[in-house]
Amino acid sequence: MSRPPAPLWLRLFHRLDPETAHRLSLRLAHLLPPRRWRAPAELRVRLGPFVLEHPLGLAAGFDKDAVAVGPLARLGFSFIEVGTVTPRPQPGHPPPRLFRLLEDEAVINRMGFPSQGADVVARRLARWRARGVRVPVGGNIGINRDSTDPIADFREVYRKIAPHVDYICVNVSSPNTPGLRALQRPDQLARILEALQEEGVCHGCPRPLVVKLAPDLDRAELVAVVETAVAAGATGLVVGNTTVQRPPGLRSPWQHEAGGLSGRPLAPLARARLEEAAEAARGRLQLIACGGIADADEAWARIRLGASALQLYTALVYRGPAVVRRIVDGLAQRLAAAGLGRIEDAVGQALAPTQPSSTSS
Ligand SMILES: Cc1cc2nc3c(=O)[nH]c(=O)nc-3n(C[C@H](O)[C@H](O)[C@H](O)COP(=O)(O)O)c2cc1C
Repeated sequence: MSRPPAPLWLRLFHRLDPETAHRLSLRLAHLLPPRRWRAPAELRVRLGPFVLEHPLGLAAGFDKDAVAVGPLARLGFSFIEVGTVTPRPQPGHPPPRLFRLLEDEAVINRMGFPSQGADVVARRLARWRARGVRVPVGGNIGINRDSTDPIADFREVYRKIAPHVDYICVNVSSPNTPGLRALQRPDQLARILEALQEEGVCHGCPRPLVVKLAPDLDRAELVAVVETAVAAGATGLVVGNTTVQRPPGLRSPWQHEAGGLSGRPLAPLARARLEEAAEAARGRLQLIACGGIADADEAWARIRLGASALQLYTALVYRGPAVVRRIVDGLAQRLAAAGLGRIEDAVGQALAPTQPSSTSS
């Protein structure tokens, strides 16, 4: 599907420094009127204990400090993931740390988890709850850059955030915090997940745990993460985060900046990891596809490869908030064209026939 022309306001946005544009978009989101559309009932999908209106949610990183949860839900996302939240406040890397690869419809970021910290974010989440945000909200949690004890960091941020969210996403895959991705190793990941399960029980706030993976894992590493997640009682995986690879064919002069690449060029890699994860999980985990989803064709392909739900971030930068409805409408059309009554029937349809789909049904 070709890219629709960007509206004038979006092209003006692209003239601003990327971080300024991002801060402005979080403010402007508060001024948007509530949407007037509803997704058709066939798009309803179960994700853990929730029934989502449709599969498309907002990925972590857009609203790191939970400043615009209500307005972002009003844009039409069926679930919102805030964060990454770190236990203590930290500024992240010094700017410049965010780059638009306009020619490639991509972004490179090395934000390094700027976070107002778990106390501030928890208070804000509690206020959004009190105001009645109607979609499930996930808390994406990470560790401080100067952490000497990652498990203690994860425990602390879980304790503060979990009471105010519907699920927790364990981020062990951002490329911009030294040592973080090593926590995807089975021994480390198992200890983190067990610690968080324990926090949930001890503090009366057990929450579904999902693990966010790097798309740079090889097949053996990915299979090991799947088995570890299943054994530790996680309910799902987000597949996945930004990549440190630079796929061939990038055109932007910013392509050599250090950091994680997101957006369209990430799609083939994210799709391949999703398929591998679905085959390894064999229905034991629910999969949330993320990475380079910008139109209904890609969204539909991910569902057929085993994703129960989808997330996007970079498509908002290039296509604006209208992308949400465009994808939702497009999914409904593809579902009808496939002669299926429910989107859940399409989950995993493109996997090899011996593989059961990864729906929870
Ligand atoms: C500027 C920026 C900041 C991000 N920050 C986070 C973050 O704090 N935590 C996280 O788990 N993912 C973060 N991500 C990754 C996204 O959640 C997503 O996994 C990735 O961008 C791929 O999806 P996309 O191609 O739709 O953007 C960030 C992405 C971008 C572009």
